[in-house]
Amino acid sequence: MHRLLGPLVPGLAVAALAAWPTGLPGQISASSPDGRTRVTVETQDGGLFYEVARDGRPLLLPSRLGFEFQGAPPLRDSLRITDSARATHDEWWTQPWGEVARVRDHHNELAVGVEETTPPGRRFTVRLRVFDDGLGFRYEFPAQAALDSFAITDELTEFALADNAKAWWIPSDRPRMDRSEMLFSSGPVSLLQHVQTPLTMETEERTYLVIHEADLEDYARMNLKGGCIECRTLRADLAPMTGGIKVRGRTPFHTPWRTIQLADSITQLAPSVLGLNLNPPNRLASTDWIHPMKYVGVWWGMHIGTMTWSSGPKHGATTARAEQYIDFAAANGFGGVLVEGWNVGWDGDWIANRNAFSFTKAYPDYDLAAVAAYAHQKGVRLIVHNETSGGIQNYERQLDSAYSLYHSLGLDAVKTGYVTDTTAEGYSHWSQFMVRHYRKVIETAARYGIMLDVHEPLHDTGERRTWPNMMTREGARGQEYNAWSGDGGNPPEHETILFFTRMLDGPMDFTPGIFDILRNRSLGKAQRPDQPRVRTTLAKQLALYVVLYSPLQMAADLPENYAGQPAFQFIKDVAVDWDTTRVIDGRIGDYVIVARRARAGQTWFLGAITDEEGRSFDVPLSFLTPGRRYQADIYADGPKANWLDNPLSVTITRRPVTSRTTLRLVLAPGGGQAVRFSPLP
Ligand code: NOJ
Ligand code: CA
Repeated sequence: MHRLLGPLVPGLAVAALAAWPTGLPGQISASSPDGRTRVTVETQDGGLFYEVARDGRPLLLPSRLGFEFQGAPPLRDSLRITDSARATHDEWWTQPWGEVARVRDHHNELAVGVEETTPPGRRFTVRLRVFDDGLGFRYEFPAQAALDSFAITDELTEFALADNAKAWWIPSDRPRMDRSEMLFSSGPVSLLQHVQTPLTMETEERTYLVIHEADLEDYARMNLKGGCIECRTLRADLAPMTGGIKVRGRTPFHTPWRTIQLADSITQLAPSVLGLNLNPPNRLASTDWIHPMKYVGVWWGMHIGTMTWSSGPKHGATTARAEQYIDFAAANGFGGVLVEGWNVGWDGDWIANRNAFSFTKAYPDYDLAAVAAYAHQKGVRLIVHNETSGGIQNYERQLDSAYSLYHSLGLDAVKTGYVTDTTAEGYSHWSQFMVRHYRKVIETAARYGIMLDVHEPLHDTGERRTWPNMMTREGARGQEYNAWSGDGGNPPEHETILFFTRMLDGPMDFTPGIFDILRNRSLGKAQRPDQPRVRTTLAKQLALYVVLYSPLQMAADLPENYAGQPAFQFIKDVAVDWDTTRVIDGRIGDYVIVARRARAGQTWFLGAITDEEGRSFDVPLSFLTPGRRYQADIYADGPKANWLDNPLSVTITRRPVTSRTTLRLVLAPGGGQAVRFSPLP
């Protein structure tokens, strides 16, 4: 009934909600442990709906649940609730690495049994878990005669926003390109067409709401589409496979979790653990071999054009250069060295020739075994690069032989890549075909003791909990766009949006740390303002190490650009694995201030970044342990610094502080600040 009221005025909606009796047949609710969030599942005219309220106010109005199939009637109009079961769960678990060490999984669960009232009488369960920081639900189909193998053509799940929340989004329907490498836009939910998740929204009542998915294992990736013109209903939009089919399966079967993260303030949005809590626990017998680390690499040179992936006079991946980078890593305490362009297949059009990539055969000027042995001798890990260009079968055919070769050489890290519009086999990047592929790579890598850094990935749905060798991924516009992008590079606001959107699903291999911001050192002349270049100050490049979390974190510039740079010390010092993370302040698209405590020890780091506007803040250091003295090493934008024409000016100062100190941060336009707090004896 209330569903038919249309867009509700908040007062009316509260009254409507409060008036609902609970426990009626056909309507059943569950609340979060703190009692603030309430989810109700109900049937109306044979349709199945859920709705979400917080503190008695509706956040999601009745939103449809159901499916359409090929060759079978939809599960949509003749459904009834048959039974329900409840459970409560409260457990702490420890991440092998992460933004926080300890995670609490505290939720109330409600499993709602549903049956089709007309033939063929199919049955399924909607399982809901309600946490203090949001909720997840998924569909579970038991094995049954009425439903064996099936082909889903549409998932009817809706998210009917109760008010016209503001959303920060990237499109999911860019012609031909299933990519997340785009700049964000913002605007009211009522204007959204096709968007990717995680989708961050701020309601008019200032509640933050993030729609995403968790545990995407054998299904199509979920995007969202606007349900209708000028309305606020978003619908699941599954990536296509072939012939109108989105997902093929056989019962017993369950979908990924559809997740709705909730926060009362911006500082509570990150770090997000909702998706991790909805993934199965770690399946690896041992995680001792998994090492968060910083790395350097034969990489930026290719992007700015001073080196090539392909063979020839500018070939980047030579044995001599790899050994030089290994020396640099060893001398500066970096854990790893990435070498791209080492393997045969890069010559000519490496996207068109994708099925010609070999993942075992090196170019003649690169001796993989010798470089591996040299790295080992120097205590550095070699990160092997596997660009597939979307030649999936070509890669899968070689997966075992390649990974067993790397394993036999003592190599335990691979960076993969999927630069392409659709795969060589004609599938969307986000299809069930690719979901299966990405999982297969994770599981194969786990078998060979290999950590993964995936570029052009699927969005992160928390699989790192189950497979902690799935370390980091790209999945947004990273630093590479500052090397060659036609629009000149990432605008200064970019990372202040990433932090509250893309980064809520998991770590990102953004590859910070470009010091040669104007390119004079690498190219002999500065880029003009309209040419591609980094659009931050140098201090902001440092702050990104704290702000943009990644357990594999690159120092992306050419080693020679770090020579003689006192600010390089911060990159050497900064941690990559955290015990605690605190968002101190922020505004999406404007600024972020984050403090994190390193996993080992008592050292804290702070990163603050701003968009194109200069800003100052007074930050109480109350996160430090009371009664303890710390030395603060402060890397701040210098006087008159700004991203446009004075990006390199950095002031480095040192002072004692305690938890009672208030630190004044002055950020230049496009600037940032990075601070290390080390405990004093
Ligand atoms: C795109 C990746 O994001 C980048 O890091 C890599 O260097 C190129 N593809 C080549 O594989
Ligand atoms: Ca990329």
